[in-house]
Amino acid sequence: MKLTIFGAGYVGLVTGACLADVGHQVLCVDVDAKKVARLNAGEIPIHEPGLDAIVARNRSFGTLEFTIDVAKAVDHADVLFIAVGTPPDESGAADLKYVLAVAESVGKLMAEPKVVVIKSTVPVGTSDKVRSKLSQVLASRNVTLNFDVVSNPEFLKEGAAVDDFLKPDRIIVGTETNYAREVMKELYKPFNRNHDRVLYMDSRSAELTKYAANALLATKISFINEIANLAERLGADIEEVRRGIGADPRIGYHFIYPGLGYGGSCFPKDVQALGRTATELGYDAPLIAAVETVNNRQKTTMFGKIAAHFGGADRLGGKRIAVWGLAFKPNTDDMREAPSRTLVEALWRSGATVTAYDPVAMPETRRIYGDRPDLVFAPDKYTALDGADAVVVCTEWQQFRAPDFDEMDRRLASKVIFDGRNIYSPEHLRRDGWTYISIGRPP
Ligand code: NAD
Ligand code: UGA
Repeated sequence: MKLTIFGAGYVGLVTGACLADVGHQVLCVDVDAKKVARLNAGEIPIHEPGLDAIVARNRSFGTLEFTIDVAKAVDHADVLFIAVGTPPDESGAADLKYVLAVAESVGKLMAEPKVVVIKSTVPVGTSDKVRSKLSQVLASRNVTLNFDVVSNPEFLKEGAAVDDFLKPDRIIVGTETNYAREVMKELYKPFNRNHDRVLYMDSRSAELTKYAANALLATKISFINEIANLAERLGADIEEVRRGIGADPRIGYHFIYPGLGYGGSCFPKDVQALGRTATELGYDAPLIAAVETVNNRQKTTMFGKIAAHFGGADRLGGKRIAVWGLAFKPNTDDMREAPSRTLVEALWRSGATVTAYDPVAMPETRRIYGDRPDLVFAPDKYTALDGADAVVVCTEWQQFRAPDFDEMDRRLASKVIFDGRNIYSPEHLRRDGWTYISIGRPP
């Protein structure tokens, strides 16, 4: 099938590349001319494992192309995906301006029937809004053309996006028409190897499914962080508790890792947007609000521990703190809402200098903060420790999991590790004379 994807960001690029890889003829269109030029030069603008190979392969086959030409993009296919951003507006609600701008362009340019598929995460009722926008623009052109709008939210995780897309747990298709249902069935046929992965429902339920999934995952994280904070105060070990509760298959081991709070471009904005939806409905949703409150507090806890260790925030002036890992999670260079940002900004406010190392997110961090004297990037993880008063692990990259502790000892000015991801053994480190402060475990 011929497919067009509006937006060549994390979701649009992965969607386009993976749909091309299963045999579709895909054209990705983006308003960012620089991004499109890079993609056309064979460069991948984001760090996402496996994406470069799949993009290169399909570019060479001619099954994946990139353009800024909107008219060409609308003309290319009968099925048009919208995968543009839906960032929060001032109220916390999802801003639909990019989604509706695409709908407007499609309405202005379409010359034959189209199926418009919304892949962006959008509040319930957005399919109706896109439908109205298309009808309105077509009416202003005095044109009568059939079109369908489908809600097809995306569930991929950054760092594992290609795998998630190619091997989905489920594919949600929200549509009110049999025609669109058949088109989507055909489109996703290559993903139904062992059993049918597609779940059909109405578009409002599909839209809510996406928010419910993200909010529930975020709830698990805030819950375990809350228990970790209690464990610390009770002299219990959250890692034992995590294993103890995870063994119950009704709870499971996934997404109950305590840490520095969830970051990324989706959980924070989607929990906020769901809360905003509730407010707009006049419905009090205290659980959703609490997930966000707990997370915001969790993002500040590591700074509190560092300040307490050094005798107060006012004693941090002139200290050098090494930070291992900046990205909001491993295997990505995405810094959106990364917990490391809350920490380093608090350290700077107290007059500390940060020496940071991240395997891939340093260029993005420099782009965000610019050059500043209190932020030094190290060429490798050990150099980051040279003369530092402590090291803080913010992201659990594989290369931080089994470091040479003797080498760390030689580099650091004092034997202090703050571990925001609980990747080391407290017994081992304590035995070797380290001060080791983690999350939800006895000091
Ligand atoms: P992104 O910011 O990485 O990419 C969005 C792209 O859309 C940008 O390249 C931008 O230039 C482009 N764009 C904006 N207006 C456009 C227009 N009118 N025409 C064509 N292109 C346009 O965003 P993202 O992370 O890919 O997220 C996109 C959507 O998918 C969001 O709603 C997000 O919540 C959702 N989502 C994201 C993820 C994720 O892991 N990042 C996972 C699932 C769902
Ligand atoms: C998340 C969801 O997992 C995807 O299913 C969804 O499609 C996506 O949001 C989206 O809508 O954009 P992502 O944000 O890429 O994916 O990454 P996650 O692996 O979910 O991690 C999010 C944050 O939670 C990270 O900061 C991570 O460190 C944190 N986390 C995750 C924990 O603190 N503990 C855990 O047990 C799991």
